[in-house]
Amino acid sequence: MTLTDEGAHRVITPGILYFGTPVVVLSSENADGTANLAPISSAWALGDVFLLGLGANGHTVDNLRARPELVINFPSPDQWKQVESLALLTGADPVPSGKPPGCRFAPDKFGAAGWHPTPSELVRPPRIAECPAQIEATVSSLRPDASDQFVVVEAKAVRVHAEPAIVIDGTSHIDPTVWSPLIYNFRHYFGLGARLGRAGRAEY
Ligand SMILES: Cc1cc2nc3c(=O)[nH]c(=O)nc-3n(C[C@H](O)[C@H](O)[C@H](O)COP(=O)(O)O)c2cc1C
Repeated sequence: MTLTDEGAHRVITPGILYFGTPVVVLSSENADGTANLAPISSAWALGDVFLLGLGANGHTVDNLRARPELVINFPSPDQWKQVESLALLTGADPVPSGKPPGCRFAPDKFGAAGWHPTPSELVRPPRIAECPAQIEATVSSLRPDASDQFVVVEAKAVRVHAEPAIVIDGTSHIDPTVWSPLIYNFRHYFGLGARLGRAGRAEY
């Protein structure tokens, strides 16, 4: 039998391919010892290694090349406005070419978002105190992506912090029925809906 699509799908040419990933906010260290924050949605884990996709002209890439430590902070869905308040801010002065119109230099992104720094334990950049989960990490590699517009960063998680409310008592498991990431879905913010099922490989 020949399989045909018969109009079930259309060929489209979307401008972006952001089918929904968690938003994380990266803390990195500036040359003067202060901290920079950058929200990104191109982030996912392979075991304990995070893969991060960063614009090559961003300040965070410069920081990570020079000082290869960071914190991957996980905001919750109700923090989307703080995340969005950082969208058009860069830690680079002057603002690099290629940043979107309206982008401006901000030396204090913690203040801009109304968040507070709290010290990390194993890396120099601080954590965002208000974020329910934070992962301290060290950069193991940076390389250009195929388009040369982005840098692919691999970062090894070295310490995980979580608010007790999202951890199953007496374990190191994040409770997936309590925790929801902030999801970036075609440039709109979402939380998670209700659980649909349990994977065979679920730990609990
Ligand atoms: C929700 C959200 C998701 C974003 N995702 C990315 C991303 O995956 N990669 C990236 O380089 N920039 C992303 N950005 C844009 C950066 O946050 C922005 O370029 C910022 O100016 C970077 O700051 P920096 O130049 O100080 O590093 C995102 C912004 C928002 C608000």
